[in-house]
Amino acid sequence: MNEKASAPDLRAERVNYTKGQLTKTLAGNDPHALFDEWMRDAIERRDREGDVLEPNAMVVSTINPETDWPDSRVLLLKEHKNKKFVFFGNYESQKGHDLDVNRKAALNFTWLPLQRQVRIQGKVRRISPEESDAYFAVRPRGSQIGAWASSQSDVIDSREDIQLANERAEKRFEGKDVPRPPHWGGWALTPHVIEFWQGGASRLHDRIRFTALDSEEGRWQVDRLAP
Ligand SMILES: Cc1cc2nc3c(=O)[nH]c(=O)nc-3n(C[C@H](O)[C@H](O)[C@H](O)COP(=O)(O)O)c2cc1C
Repeated sequence: MNEKASAPDLRAERVNYTKGQLTKTLAGNDPHALFDEWMRDAIERRDREGDVLEPNAMVVSTINPETDWPDSRVLLLKEHKNKKFVFFGNYESQKGHDLDVNRKAALNFTWLPLQRQVRIQGKVRRISPEESDAYFAVRPRGSQIGAWASSQSDVIDSREDIQLANERAEKRFEGKDVPRPPHWGGWALTPHVIEFWQGGASRLHDRIRFTALDSEEGRWQVDRLAP
């Protein structure tokens, strides 16, 4: 590493947003339908231009109950249906422990080539073991083995340790289907706030926020927020 290289001048980094507009009329009255539309746009953009690498990647924020600090990490959204956002991972990981104690979480999707962001707040519950089984069964075998091998978020001595654990898991399931480990599964977040952000010229961005009035009937208050 060149120690003399100076830090990049971030003040000079500036993009003017001109890709589109969002009005209350365009947003409609169903944030789940609008989310699906924006996700479709992101997938289409990936297919056409290739610059939205993982359209379903999102930042998931939780609160660590021991330290009271928020923390965030990227996860993949694997399902958006029945008004829920579903993602998967290790129940014994840090995020798993966080969600066991404090069900409140936030999701953030950022599709920079489309100059769009979606922010979501809601409460999280584990999905049923049967639902987790169904998704686990369609994962690539390597990922299934990895779920057995990795005690996600634990401190380990070396990369070798995890490679050995992976080899042990491969041997254990040689010639057999890999079952879902009990410590691996899905969570579903039910949102009560969803905000859509579309970048605008001269920082006059559009922000439309949906706040749930009642979760069952799907009625939402719709507000425009100052950028
Ligand atoms: C693009 C991307 C996708 C990821 N998808 C997942 C995922 O779906 N599930 C998961 O557990 N970790 C995923 N990770 C890893 C997490 O960011 C994180 O390292 C891991 O879940 C451990 O987080 P924790 O210690 O806070 O529990 C992904 C990372 C990246 C960069």
